[in-house]
Amino acid sequence: MIECFLPDAAATDALGALLARTQPANAIAHLHGDLGAGKSTLARAWLRALGVEGAIRSPTYTLVEHYPLAGGGKALHLDLYRIAAAGELEFLALDDAAATLWLVEWPERAAGALPVADLRVELTVQEEGRAVRLLEGTPAGSVWLDRVSKTGVCEALLIPQGRKSSQPSDI
Ligand SMILES: Nc1ncnc2c1ncn2[C@@H]1O[C@H](COP(=O)(O)OP(=O)(O)O)[C@@H](O)[C@H]1O
Ligand SMILES: [Mg+2]
Repeated sequence: MIECFLPDAAATDALGALLARTQPANAIAHLHGDLGAGKSTLARAWLRALGVEGAIRSPTYTLVEHYPLAGGGKALHLDLYRIAAAGELEFLALDDAAATLWLVEWPERAAGALPVADLRVELTVQEEGRAVRLLEGTPAGSVWLDRVSKTGVCEALLIPQGRKSSQPSDI
């Protein structure tokens, strides 16, 4: 598990780029957090970092957007907030076999109908910024998080939470 503090949207973008850079060739990420927590911001930065050009729309109404990736893979960006029942996923023609990356907002709405997440991202509003927790869900996810730790980016660029609370305040 990795925890960091994202002081602004640019830090969320940096995290998206970091996860794109460190992800395995096939990756499933579940993005948890309330409305406005930064899930779409993270997904957009992630897809951009993988070379997606043009508009990256939030799949709020379409439920899913498909993006061909350089190198032959395909990314699926899902937002399941408006799904009525997990069974509705079947009607989206997700083409699971061809998808090399899944970025799923509101995965809890389709519990049990989605492939198991390698990485679980939990975003929460914290003051002006966002706290984020990265949790491994598979052995591949565990290797992935090791790679994230080794970059030191979470510490250097994203200001770890520990530093915030260790500021002298009550002298
Ligand atoms: N780390 C952050 N600190 C402050 N604001 C952020 C951060 N990350 C994203 N935001 C902002 O939060 C708002 C909502 O983001 P969005 O990605 O649409 O949320 P969600 O998809 O979770 O509903 C956007 O205006 C975005 O710029
Ligand atoms: Mg969203």
